[in-house]
Amino acid sequence: MRGLLTSLLLLPFFAAGPAFGQTADSAVRAEALLGRMTLEEKVGQLVMTGFDEAFSTDILERGGAGSVISFNDPAAIARAQEKARASRLGIPLLIGLDLLHGFRTLFPMPLAEAASFDAELAARNAELAAREAKPAGLNWTFAPVADVARDPRWGRMIETNGEDALLARDFTRARADGFRRGGLAPTLKHFAGYGAVSGGRDYDAVSVSDFELQNIHLPPFRAALGPITTVMTALTVLNGMPSSANTQLLGTTLRGKWGFDGVVVSDWKAIGGLIDQGIAQDEAEAARIALKAGVDIDMMSGIYARYLAAEAAAGRVSIQEIDGAVRRVLALKFALGLFDTPPPDPSEADRAALTPELRAAARASVRDTSVLLRNEDGVLPLRSGNIAVVGPFADNAFDQLGPHEARGMPEDAVTVLEGIREHAAKTGARVHYAEACDVACEDASGFEAAVDASRTSEVTIVVLGEKREHSGEGASRATLGFPGKQDELLEALAATGKPIVLVVIAGRPLDLRRAAETAPAILMAWYPGTEGGHGVADLLFGDHAPSAKLPISWPRSVGQAPLSYDRLATARPYEPAARYTQRFLDEKIEPLFPFGFGLTYTNFRYSTPVVTPGTDGAAANVSVTVTNEGARAGTEIVQLYMRDDVASRVQPVKRLVRYARIALQPGESRTVEFVLRRDDLGFFDEDGHLIVEPGTFRFGAGPDSTVALDAIFTLAPP
Ligand code: NOJ
Repeated sequence: MRGLLTSLLLLPFFAAGPAFGQTADSAVRAEALLGRMTLEEKVGQLVMTGFDEAFSTDILERGGAGSVISFNDPAAIARAQEKARASRLGIPLLIGLDLLHGFRTLFPMPLAEAASFDAELAARNAELAAREAKPAGLNWTFAPVADVARDPRWGRMIETNGEDALLARDFTRARADGFRRGGLAPTLKHFAGYGAVSGGRDYDAVSVSDFELQNIHLPPFRAALGPITTVMTALTVLNGMPSSANTQLLGTTLRGKWGFDGVVVSDWKAIGGLIDQGIAQDEAEAARIALKAGVDIDMMSGIYARYLAAEAAAGRVSIQEIDGAVRRVLALKFALGLFDTPPPDPSEADRAALTPELRAAARASVRDTSVLLRNEDGVLPLRSGNIAVVGPFADNAFDQLGPHEARGMPEDAVTVLEGIREHAAKTGARVHYAEACDVACEDASGFEAAVDASRTSEVTIVVLGEKREHSGEGASRATLGFPGKQDELLEALAATGKPIVLVVIAGRPLDLRRAAETAPAILMAWYPGTEGGHGVADLLFGDHAPSAKLPISWPRSVGQAPLSYDRLATARPYEPAARYTQRFLDEKIEPLFPFGFGLTYTNFRYSTPVVTPGTDGAAANVSVTVTNEGARAGTEIVQLYMRDDVASRVQPVKRLVRYARIALQPGESRTVEFVLRRDDLGFFDEDGHLIVEPGTFRFGAGPDSTVALDAIFTLAPP
């Protein structure tokens, strides 16, 4: 082992290089090591193991696994690395964990971060999460999620950036960059199309058109490729072929057209899934199919471990195919510096956790991601007076953390009640708290105490939602209502006549039709994480103004799903009085709140946008002036939408093409200039080629996706 390390250390080491997955140097070093490995050791590098096996068998000492999953305990990670380093070649382990929204300090969930329309915020949080996780021994994360989600029945919507391809692209890339800056290898997942599972049913098949695949689902992956990057296959079937067997997707597109030379890892037991999906007869065939399709690491099915060596010995997979996969795994380990630096000392991990910097970023993120959906009569920000705080999510640290908690712990979290109490203590306001019911809210016996608390207060903050197990993986819902009797609670409180502020803690857009009739103010706080209570209180009391906007169309009812603002043009667009147009007989066609919508404590006025031909190689410039007409400072997310009038493929009726966050003082105006390149006006054809067609384009700039597209521009042939 020592001999190997010394000779490898003599080689120069570059952390980043021109290629996607590998660097020139890491590839050279991987090649040298590969030459010294037995077939069993090679296969070991393609096997991922879990906690139990890692410690109950000799798998790590014999080099039988190259990576481990879901360790969040620094001491256990250190022990696992020691075992691996004691193996014949001492090859260090990849240690991977889902860092969806942080490690110990939990930020708002990815969907919430997308509501900030501030990809830098997501990049910073990913980097902070990586810096917090790395001292614990992690070097790889199964994040970011690059999937695009349009169906709130799908519980994993909260892990995505929502429905829009541009936001998904920007945020996926930003998080991948952030993880890399923090020293972790990111994983772009789940390749591909997982966000479009049929009926929102997790794991169900995905059937999407080539246009949708190329223009909506693939771009976020492509945009986020970079050094030390890995890609995870989806558990699902895409247009008839499982992702882990999909040579078109993994071979032709990812490795071929995009030139990706990094590691592809299967999702959890996805290789075994090939048998259930009826693509492989048995495990040996599943192993062959997955390896040949381009899956390098088998996450937890054990099938590579059981069959690959025998399949190679029998000549049914070639040594070249195995070597290709091992080379990529080793190159990643070299590029991460695992051979060159000792594993972190586990006793350092706590020092890196929950630092003031992490907590401050988490708190600021809650402020920038909570969406104010309603604020009649200026109920918010709160004025002086006593406050009732009510509801099963008000003092509920566990659920506000959200799914995929990594090492996040309820005892570290500040609840909404605690945040409000802290603030109220400064002003002398009294806080009356009543839980009213538990999260299932079947039992209404606590409602009376809640109504009493409301009666003796000037305003009632009601914190309702869905528990964290209702979101994330395996958490599809067929209804979108507040579980149990939460709507009834809201109505009982409203009957007091006292103003109500509803704070929603949830992973998806819940059915707010009843709530919107009873609560003059509604704040969507998603799962706000460790600093949730502080961030929410900062907004409620007006220390900060909300600025976030919805990264999804908020449906009125579940029957509208799937839903997105960027529908393809139809020959029968909705017309209120015309039966045979795009409509429901029993529901409105418009969402309850449109994509891009969100209020703040001031009002912004928009000028008519002006579009002019671009200069310096740009295709067009669109400018719009925004004025803060209210009495408070505020941040507006200015959104530019576009439509291609006539094209060779049917186009969306509208799509987001640019956005900008601007902070304006009362009375202040700012002109935002959006510069569009020719490529921005194009679309991907069935083969993934970008096509830009001359002709007329319409633009509209405004506060949400309902803006009219009145500014017309003609793109001349090149
Ligand atoms: C299955 C999930 O689909 C995937 O997103 C996750 O990374 C793995 N489990 C590991 O936790």
